[in-house]
Amino acid sequence: MNPIAHQPDSLPAPGPGALAQSEALVAQLRAELEAAGGWLPFDRYMERALYSPGFGYYSGGARKFGLRGDDGSDFVTAPELSPLFAPTLARPVAEALQASGTRNLLEFGAGTGKLAAGLVNALDELGVEFDSYSIVDLSGELRERQRETIEAAAPALAAKVRWLDALPEQFEGVVIGNEVLDAMPVKLFANLGGVWHERGVVWRDEAFAFEDRPVTRSGPADHALLAEIETFGENYVTETHDAARAFIRTVCTMLTRGAAFFIDYGFPQHEYYHAQRAQGTLMCHYRHRAHGDPFLYPGLQDITAHVEFTGIAEAGVEAGADLLGFTSQARFLMNAGITDALSSIDPTDTTRFLPAANAVQKLLSEAEMGELFKVIAFSRGLTETLKAFSSGDRSHTL
Ligand SMILES: C[S@@+](CC[C@H](N)C(=O)[O-])C[C@H]1O[C@@H](n2cnc3c(N)ncnc32)[C@H](O)[C@@H]1O
Repeated sequence: MNPIAHQPDSLPAPGPGALAQSEALVAQLRAELEAAGGWLPFDRYMERALYSPGFGYYSGGARKFGLRGDDGSDFVTAPELSPLFAPTLARPVAEALQASGTRNLLEFGAGTGKLAAGLVNALDELGVEFDSYSIVDLSGELRERQRETIEAAAPALAAKVRWLDALPEQFEGVVIGNEVLDAMPVKLFANLGGVWHERGVVWRDEAFAFEDRPVTRSGPADHALLAEIETFGENYVTETHDAARAFIRTVCTMLTRGAAFFIDYGFPQHEYYHAQRAQGTLMCHYRHRAHGDPFLYPGLQDITAHVEFTGIAEAGVEAGADLLGFTSQARFLMNAGITDALSSIDPTDTTRFLPAANAVQKLLSEAEMGELFKVIAFSRGLTETLKAFSSGDRSHTL
């Protein structure tokens, strides 16, 4: 059963080309569903809806990032929102490069390329030399857009930026990922009357719909985690994050010296599996409207879930990395000097200062991104902590 009614009438309709692309993805998904016996685990549906070559949301032609729905975009991220985000993040990145004696950077899921361009320019201004800035993205389609952004905004440094098709086995340097973990497929589970069910996808009445199947001991669920989750009430729905944990294990195994920073929305485990989130955190974004229906226009809308940071921390430590810090985005950016960066803009120059101040307010405000977004960082071979985690570190809450 799909708990959220389709609301296509209240959302702007896609154009005919986009609809045809979505219909082609639906046909592929239906064929896969049929071959699998009529039921697909939700993480597989999400993976195909986001990353099916040529048709998925990130691997197809959707505009994705932007400030407003009328430009065809669906959501805005911190590097798009504020030009001060990248130079502020550059300070802890520079500190980690210098403390580890490394000279390479690697960004996952680089979006439009704005963060990469801002980081390389800011490192240059800080006088921090580096050899390479590599980008790894599941979205090949974004590569051209990233190259254009970087060539326009950082022409002197663009030659140091490269795109990798596969991860290196070992990496010494600093890894960055902004809003990458929330874009990884999640498994859905529903506790119905005390019994855990895995929520999967079926095709019924000419549409995709949810169908719950009791979890069996031999099934692929994380039984230890499910057993620990307190289910507040009769119908508790939540997610588990196998793909994000596996990704962090891979990154922290690859990182032989340096640090890795991941910025995203989410909570530590005790806040994640909580009465306030009895319907889980799955969320879809279409033209800057958030809603809960993952079956609307497959391939044309973003599907995300909040990050469960305790599992992320455990995965990194299991892989042998040290937890360098965990704090709110507001605390991290303030420790890293975002307010100094803002005060370097002349406040009487209102056309520059006011939008910059508004954007910084969004990044820091508790009611917007400041508290919901967190920064988690891992390290190898670093003995000192970074200024960005010098106060307000919440690693003990994980
Ligand atoms: C929400 S977007 C964020 C983009 C950008 N970092 C920003 O902040 O604007 C998520 C990005 O992560 C990428 N991504 C997801 N899983 C990935 C993985 N395993 N490796 C590399 N990129 C991945 C997606 O392709 C997408 O470009």
